[in-house]
Amino acid sequence: MSAIGAWLKTRFPIDVDRLRAVTDEPIPGHLKRWWFALGGTPAYLFAVQIVTGILLLFYYVPEPGRAYDSVAEITSGVRFGWWLRSIHKWAATGMIVAVCLHTIRVFFTGAYRKPRELTWVVGCMLLFATLTAGLTGYSLVYEQLSYWGTTVTSNLVAAVPVLGGTLARFLRGGAEVGPATLTRFFVLHVAIVPGAIATLAMLHLALVRAHGVTELEPRRGEPRTFPLIPDHVLTELSIALVLMIALNVLAILLPAELGERASPTATPEHIRPEWYFYFAFRWLKLTSLRMGVLGVGVAAAIMVVWPAIDVVLRRLSPRRELSVLFGAAAVLAVVALTLWEALA
Ligand code: HEM
Repeated sequence: MSAIGAWLKTRFPIDVDRLRAVTDEPIPGHLKRWWFALGGTPAYLFAVQIVTGILLLFYYVPEPGRAYDSVAEITSGVRFGWWLRSIHKWAATGMIVAVCLHTIRVFFTGAYRKPRELTWVVGCMLLFATLTAGLTGYSLVYEQLSYWGTTVTSNLVAAVPVLGGTLARFLRGGAEVGPATLTRFFVLHVAIVPGAIATLAMLHLALVRAHGVTELEPRRGEPRTFPLIPDHVLTELSIALVLMIALNVLAILLPAELGERASPTATPEHIRPEWYFYFAFRWLKLTSLRMGVLGVGVAAAIMVVWPAIDVVLRRLSPRRELSVLFGAAAVLAVVALTLWEALA
């Protein structure tokens, strides 16, 4: 051992071989297929969000009178500010896409079934927290659309039965959207939601680690298992490298834009949330405010308790995969509502 190695071992007495034995579990062969390894993608993109978000915080000013100007300064004044903003925005989009794809793969492979029900429930919380991160981040730009999007969001929260009024007042920092609202959304976006995502992700990974990933029959030519270090780590690193290139290409070709400055007195003609809420927005347009909010809430609750519903469905019809049918109908409905809103 080198002198530096020996020095370090005395000051930092960690047994590397034992550490390797604990962390280097065999990985099932099917995780060689990238769609089974999609769980690492949101984790990587979250790390990108944290790094770029901290750098943006050096310039962003969370005050209603100065927020928009600070974003304008980041976009066109600060050196590489446009790049930072664009990477942050595209990584947010990518994280939402990755979490949705990961959910779809987990659902259609039945990986939420016993004993992984809690992994699924924590996963659902991660999905909701990721969407909340997008929603609160959008509001900080303080352009017309983001300002009015925040107003609509707080009205939707107010329509939630029983707790809605209190929740909306908490979010707005008063009876109406006002100067305190930006502070509330800012704290949510930079502290509470990332903290929740980090905590939930650790719990999620601890559960994945405790149960191991669902065993599937390997395809011909696939090993039954392979080592986490270096094989799986290298797969994840290759995915991270491709994502890094994709984020940079997107940031250069389609950089984050800045709309008109927010005007609390002039409602824009077309208010629209970010694309990942199009399905809910279209659904709200098709129903009344209260029914719309109730529908989205019930759908989210059904998703959380799906492992229990699946048990009942399988008891009722052991030979038919009813869950797959319901899942396909749900995905189609979300895609159709999203496209409808996008093309309207
Ligand atoms: C920030 C978000 C998330 C992260 C970082 C994450 C991470 C991971 C990782 C690394 C795995 C190991 C296998 C794989 O790579 O696919 C995994 C498995 C799993 N995830 Fe997630 N996940 C997230 C969100 C979700 C969501 C939204 C759900 C479902 C609603 C979910 C449900 C599950 C389940 C049930 C497993 C076990 C799969 C199996 O045993 O095959 N996760 N997750």
